[in-house]
Amino acid sequence: MNHSVITSPTEIFKKQYEQIRQQTEKICAPLEPEDTVVQPMVDVSPPKWHIAHTSWFFETFILSPHLTGYQPYHPDYSYLFNSYYNSVGNRVQRNQRSTLTRPPLRDIFTYRQHVDNCMTQLLENLDEDKLQELLPILELGLQHEQQHQELLLTDIKYILSTNPLLPVYEKNDNTPENIVATKATFLEVPGGQYTIGFTGEGFSFDNELGVHEVLLEDFRIMNRLVTNGEYLAFMQDNGYHDFRHWLEEGWAMIQAQNLEAPLYWVQQENNWYRFTLNGLKKIEPNEPVCHVSFYEADAYANWTGKRLLTEFEWEAAAQVYPPQTGNFVESGLYEPQPANPANAGLQQLFGDTWEWTYSAYHPYPNFKKAPGAIGEYNGKFMLNQMVLRGGSCVTPANHIRTTYRNFFHPDKRWQYSGIRLASK
Ligand SMILES: [Fe+2]
Repeated sequence: MNHSVITSPTEIFKKQYEQIRQQTEKICAPLEPEDTVVQPMVDVSPPKWHIAHTSWFFETFILSPHLTGYQPYHPDYSYLFNSYYNSVGNRVQRNQRSTLTRPPLRDIFTYRQHVDNCMTQLLENLDEDKLQELLPILELGLQHEQQHQELLLTDIKYILSTNPLLPVYEKNDNTPENIVATKATFLEVPGGQYTIGFTGEGFSFDNELGVHEVLLEDFRIMNRLVTNGEYLAFMQDNGYHDFRHWLEEGWAMIQAQNLEAPLYWVQQENNWYRFTLNGLKKIEPNEPVCHVSFYEADAYANWTGKRLLTEFEWEAAAQVYPPQTGNFVESGLYEPQPANPANAGLQQLFGDTWEWTYSAYHPYPNFKKAPGAIGEYNGKFMLNQMVLRGGSCVTPANHIRTTYRNFFHPDKRWQYSGIRLASK
């Protein structure tokens, strides 16, 4: 019996499209309609807005220019669901997204279905040449949707955490038992010339392009992420009250906001707990510390007498010790997991938490901004943010690469961001 199935590149793309679009709806399935409208801080977008905006992306950049006769689904939706593309026109300000109580969620799902139907129509009528021509923007649409899937989980966690009832997003009992500590060691990475940036086949973002050489000194990289237990030792050693560890901006931030622990940590009767998508959980000392700002990551590193890696050191380490897999969103755990003491190599480079680097998010020397609106995707944000590497437990596994550059302002804590140290 012949089980082989002949699939054309168009059919392969159609399958990916369906799978990724359905995944967004799966992420939103446990939510109540009321959960999808609120915006408890400006960085967080209401889930309803994410669901609409990802459809707007396909409508604006693929259907309108490439499906003959396509008219936008609704004349106002571009104003409502454009995120930041000046080339596309005016929009609701980012901090006003929760004012969109209308259109109701059911209309947003109808909009989504309309876009999917039209995308199917477009894909079914594409010949191979046209597909190849459109593939970069088609793939960008899917990668963009995956970025918003991670943001959805990140934002849902923040939204639910601000509700006094501390709602559980999804109950799971997958937390491993009998956790044993993995001793921190430092693995050598030889100095020398390394090629930085994306050189492979397939998709990459423009910010990974502009491949270039960097010269690195010898350094050593911590074999795993910094744990809750290690971070707690910093807190208990007066870490948040000793200015000597802190950058001036970080010190000002923790003073102004009275910070004494990572985001989501709460103390009850001398025990520390943290809010998770699985409810309030006792702090597990061997799990990686998560939801810290760059300032906290740097202060912790200073306290240990070590330092953070640069993004170039991180990428060089990934060349010397190539990561194979990690705890990504597919595990369904939505929390970083302890390292494995049986594993002698470099662990958790992929998944668990994004790793703050001490590298500013700047264009690579050979970076070229794409023409048109798509040039606004990454390039215009290349100032005053820090690079994070490696993906997290809410990143889709097939979305990450060793050359992937994530970026956030140094004070941000709602992302799944953690710490890895470097040393001489
Ligand atoms: Fe977006």
